[in-house]
Amino acid sequence: MIVKGVMGIDDALLAITHGADGIVVSNHGGRQLGSTFAPLEVLPGIVDAVRGQMEIFIDGGVRRGSDALKAVALGARGVLLGRAPLYGVASRGGAGASEVLALMMDEMLISMRLLGCQGIADVSPAFVEQAKRAV
Ligand SMILES: Cc1cc2nc3c(=O)[nH]c(=O)nc-3n(C[C@H](O)[C@H](O)[C@H](O)COP(=O)(O)O)c2cc1C
Repeated sequence: MIVKGVMGIDDALLAITHGADGIVVSNHGGRQLGSTFAPLEVLPGIVDAVRGQMEIFIDGGVRRGSDALKAVALGARGVLLGRAPLYGVASRGGAGASEVLALMMDEMLISMRLLGCQGIADVSPAFVEQAKRAV
């Protein structure tokens, strides 16, 4: 059982208490509450609190392979995609969605090469912290 729509530590811990196998950190693509936090902002705190007791996925605003990589770097097991493949569907149907997924995979691999990562296990939070300091 995966519980979607978790944005806080209390709800994440509640999901564990109720036997969830995982959560999706998500604000439902911003369709519920204007000016809410971005899922990526709350992800590190939830990852720390959950301490590996269940899987953590995330969605919301993933538009490029490097966005997916940032989420993984900050502790997500993986990302879910909403609008990005839908844009592909809107332009070219199922083939468009497949193209978007292939593009994202390419972008992830290129980013990993540029970061010097041989595998997904080499992607660490330090990459995101370093990028923040450089701004
Ligand atoms: C047209 C549309 C309808 C959606 N309807 C729901 C919904 O009924 N329930 C829900 O939990 N999330 C809904 N979502 C949010 C998605 O499940 C998902 O969390 C979100 O699209 C991910 O963000 P992204 O589109 O930036 O990838 C909807 C999203 C879109 C674009």
